[in-house]
Amino acid sequence: MRTSVDLLVVEASEVVTVAGGEPGPLCGAAMDDAGVIPQGAVAIAEGRVVAVGPQPEIEARFDASERVSAQGGTVIPGLVDPHTHPVFAATREGEFDARSRGADYQAITAAGGGIFSSVRRLREASPEQLAERLRAHLDRFLACGTTSIEAKSGYGLTPETEWLALELLRDVGAEHPVDIDATCLAAHQVPPEFAADRDAYVRVVCEEILPEVARRGLARSADVFCDQGAYTIDEARRVLEAARELGLARRVHADELAPVGAAELAAACGAQTADHLVCISDAGIDALAAAGTTAVLLPGTCFSLRLSEVAPARRMIEAGVPVALATDFNPGTCHIPSMIEIIALACGLLGMTVAEALVAATRNAACTLGLPGTRGVLEPGALADLLVLDIPNHLFLGYQSGWNPVREVLKAGKRVASREAAAPTLL
Ligand code: NIG
Ligand code: FE
Repeated sequence: MRTSVDLLVVEASEVVTVAGGEPGPLCGAAMDDAGVIPQGAVAIAEGRVVAVGPQPEIEARFDASERVSAQGGTVIPGLVDPHTHPVFAATREGEFDARSRGADYQAITAAGGGIFSSVRRLREASPEQLAERLRAHLDRFLACGTTSIEAKSGYGLTPETEWLALELLRDVGAEHPVDIDATCLAAHQVPPEFAADRDAYVRVVCEEILPEVARRGLARSADVFCDQGAYTIDEARRVLEAARELGLARRVHADELAPVGAAELAAACGAQTADHLVCISDAGIDALAAAGTTAVLLPGTCFSLRLSEVAPARRMIEAGVPVALATDFNPGTCHIPSMIEIIALACGLLGMTVAEALVAATRNAACTLGLPGTRGVLEPGALADLLVLDIPNHLFLGYQSGWNPVREVLKAGKRVASREAAAPTLL
């Protein structure tokens, strides 16, 4: 007697489950096992995964009116991007070009460009313009196989504009298949009108912006850019402590440009994530491991900024730090929307294996998001967010970058993006 389900995903060369072990992120050597089932199949009912296993076993147990054929492609969980800045009014490709000609990111910021340029443009934009752009970014994330994101405000830097960015994430997100976990990044930079009194702006963040965010449930987390040329350790600590008192989770842009000790601060404040970490110290790595704070690594940013250093991913994995990957999608330092591209960059620049990078871009990323339902894994009970890729196995994710292999995107068991099959590359 076969059980009736809504949908079977069949004829895959591989199903990558990223499942197994204790719930939570995979750490250390466990990251190097993505849980591959050759010729696997997935049974789905009511938006959730019911079973995953070799196709003959799944076919023997389940019957479904609808079938999706992977046509020899690879099936993986929907990708999860745990660090994005998608609410902005204008792109900054001119800065990218200026950096190609020798300009320095921090010098551009100090001269009033960089984040400040995005702040000016956002303050001039209408909510409708911002919503339209945000929707277009979400469409592109989905086409690239990303089914859940963390998304930050941070280009308004006034109470009204920070709240507006979070309202847009809520309202546009409510009508889009991509799920959004919102973060208030009012402490992205000190806005120019407070340059002579930084302390006053930190008070606005702690006493005005974040309390209203918490009261209205506009974001689950608060973030602070703690680095050279941004917030100092003492300022960042005040923001993070205010967030903690308000019941908000904490995320930190940490030690990207200089080793200021932001990773240690993130660990001490019980942050969920410390992000960037290009210049993290050995003590910082130990602190993250001891606190269980996830390191969110952003190799696309190093690539786009042409940094000569990258985050020490290998040392972090060896130390047992939970490691996740993200795009950092923003108008300035990384305009790459595709997590698949980020997986390839993590292999090429950070020395991660494809399995480690895939774990970091799915299960480990999902563990840093406060979204209900299991995401980033394919196992019984998980939300049926999955991708059919036109590649013969998951190793192609690192091996062959530069095109988008995403053929089908299923969100909670429903097809939300699809295109004609391309011939999976022959082995
Ligand atoms: O994560 N590092 C700080 N914030 C962003 C960059 C924002 C920008 O340049 O607009 C980041 O890279
Ligand atoms: Fe960022």
